[in-house]
Amino acid sequence: AKPPREMWSTRKVFILAAIGSAVGLGNIWRFPYVAYENGGGAFIIPYLVALLTAGIPLLFLDYAVGHRHRGSAPLAYRRLTPKAEGLGWWQVAICFIISIYYAVIIAWAGMYMIFSFTEAWGADPATFFLSDFLQVSENVNIGFDFVPTVLIPLVTVWALVLLVLAAGVQKGIGRANIIFLPLLLVMFLLLVVQSLFLPGAADGLDALFTPDWGALTNTGVWAAAYGQIFFSLSVAFGIMVTYASYLKRKTDLTGSGFVVAFSNSGFEILAGIGVFAAVGFMAFTAGAEVGDVAGAGGIGLAFIAFPTIISEAPLGALLGVLFFGSLVFAGFTSLISIIEVIISAVQDKLGMGRVKTTWIVGIPLALISILLFPTTTGLNLLDVTDAFVNNFGIMACALVTVLLLTYAFRKLPLLGGHVSDVSSIKIGLGWRILVGILSPIVLGYILISELIKKIQEGYGEMPAWFVGVFGWGMVVALIVVALVLSLIPWSSKSAANDPVL
Ligand code: PHE
Ligand code: NA
Repeated sequence: AKPPREMWSTRKVFILAAIGSAVGLGNIWRFPYVAYENGGGAFIIPYLVALLTAGIPLLFLDYAVGHRHRGSAPLAYRRLTPKAEGLGWWQVAICFIISIYYAVIIAWAGMYMIFSFTEAWGADPATFFLSDFLQVSENVNIGFDFVPTVLIPLVTVWALVLLVLAAGVQKGIGRANIIFLPLLLVMFLLLVVQSLFLPGAADGLDALFTPDWGALTNTGVWAAAYGQIFFSLSVAFGIMVTYASYLKRKTDLTGSGFVVAFSNSGFEILAGIGVFAAVGFMAFTAGAEVGDVAGAGGIGLAFIAFPTIISEAPLGALLGVLFFGSLVFAGFTSLISIIEVIISAVQDKLGMGRVKTTWIVGIPLALISILLFPTTTGLNLLDVTDAFVNNFGIMACALVTVLLLTYAFRKLPLLGGHVSDVSSIKIGLGWRILVGILSPIVLGYILISELIKKIQEGYGEMPAWFVGVFGWGMVVALIVVALVLSLIPWSSKSAANDPVL
């Protein structure tokens, strides 16, 4: 007989793993500059509105699908209605793309943790990052000139993450989060404290928190808030569907959801404080404007601005280890969750064991990541895939999912009812309105305005063929792959034939 479905040992482990997934690179480097650029202190209002009206309601939707139907994303959606299986594979395909480059950023951060001791970047961290470390080639292309200092840590990241996943839901994923999440919290708190003691810290915080109330009348600011919340909570990726499927029947879903959502946001605010205190210090020592430093955005902020701060600050090596270590740990627990979506889906479809599936999925996945990214052409590829999968892949998938579930399959009453049956806080008509009406309006607005912007302005300085293939082409390919996968019949050994409950 087949072993029963894997489970978290307790609800606490599930909550830790869900927080571990949500708290990622997005909290540390995305939230601070998105908040800064969209009204500073005033951003908190659209941010909270987005959290309460879309983030948390969609989180409950994911939980409901996974928990009621106890399956990986494709299986859970299929059990909801056979026509919905493709939605699950679409989410799996998105996770596939994200995982192959997300691992690369963790590898960089790991190397930079070491560089913090030697200050390998010298006096010019920008040149160091692009020319010496990544050895970025002039040509935007796909090539196989490997850069060993990226290749080696990347192979290490893949080996470690697959070992965790092979160990299973509780012994692997659960345990890794029990260890890494508290470690991350301690490191990050220390980082924030150290940053707050740097000269100029107060100016950084002023820059971040001074409200620009006029921003509230700007629809772009509201779109940015919803975009940040969707990405940050990792809703509509299949992650929360998968993680909720390993919960016991009687589990307080809404209570867990609030804990996860508020922990994630708490971590974002904390990151805002830590990062901007440090940025204020950099502006102070370099005589620059806080805005110029913060404007470097995600990768620039972490790998170019922070090294400068580390070189200048008292106890800089410590600051570096804390900052890049936080990126590594936050990223690692998110990477685990993204890959688990794929492993769980393949495991269900083929009816295979955990260890075997981990290698069948993990080895090709790792090889693709290792072939494409630690090369002199890897940065441009990473840049394009990230921008397109985030702006279009995820948004389009979330939009289509809520529209189909609400209007074509009419499943919101069933799913909301399930959540209320097992949870302390009940959800009803209000939740259905937020998920079925408000969320699609907001998602549709963001998607269309991004689409217009990309069509009119193109993307960066990159050649059209490159953006066409790895940007637009990739987004379309995800949908095609999802449809094809949903047409493949389930193995006779697969979980699709198991009774639910
Ligand atoms: N939510 C994560 C963050 O804030 C990002 C993430 C994206 C995690 C996709 C998992 C999957 O960084
Ligand atoms: Na997050």
